[in-house]
Amino acid sequence: STAQVLQGKKVVITAGPTREELDPVRYISNHSSGKMGYAIAQAAVAAGAQVELVSGPVTLPVPAGCAIHRTVSAQQMHAQVMHSVKDADIFIATAAVADYRPKQVAAQKIKKNNDELTLTFVKNPDILNDVANLPDAPFTVGFAAESENVEAYARKKLASKKLAMIAANDISQPGLGFNSDRNALHVIWNGGDKKLPTGSKMMLAEALISLIAEQYNKS
Ligand code: C5P
Repeated sequence: STAQVLQGKKVVITAGPTREELDPVRYISNHSSGKMGYAIAQAAVAAGAQVELVSGPVTLPVPAGCAIHRTVSAQQMHAQVMHSVKDADIFIATAAVADYRPKQVAAQKIKKNNDELTLTFVKNPDILNDVANLPDAPFTVGFAAESENVEAYARKKLASKKLAMIAANDISQPGLGFNSDRNALHVIWNGGDKKLPTGSKMMLAEALISLIAEQYNKS
């Protein structure tokens, strides 16, 4: 049985993709499966935490013992997270949040009347950044999915978003990351780092929760 290293702590976790509406029948999204975030939620429950999972649209079973908040768009996920983190000890952002949303949501289905269609996008709120920069911010953990210069970009993100910890994964490696059951992570914090080699997302989630608990209890 797992040691109760997060006994009594409140942990908020985002997972899955967001969907950004274009018109009543269409949306823009991405390939995030939610598997990493759901595995982290399960590992946090096993470590004794009170877990709130803020999830984009995925079809995964909710781990036993987690409270679930279902959201669709980045703006909805942002609003739910800002509410949920008020009394949280730890925030872990695994969701693949759309960076932009269509500027206008058409009230009626967009018709194929023209040979070209131009869409304008506006920036979505950065949930991770907004939580990390709260005056009374929880211990905040971000993810960095990168296709090149993985460690350099992750270190930059750790500093610029004022994170406590970042978990970087190399999405150029075939069979790992998005939609896969397996992943590998390079976890970096101020003062140390650890490479978690390729394994199941459940094994990585347990290792990550151990690292988070260790650093959280030092902070
Ligand atoms: O800056 P970048 O999008 O690469 O950062 C990725 C990290 O930021 C992930 O932890 C992701 O969950 C989080 N994020 C977020 N809100 C956004 C964009 C990213 O919470 N709008």
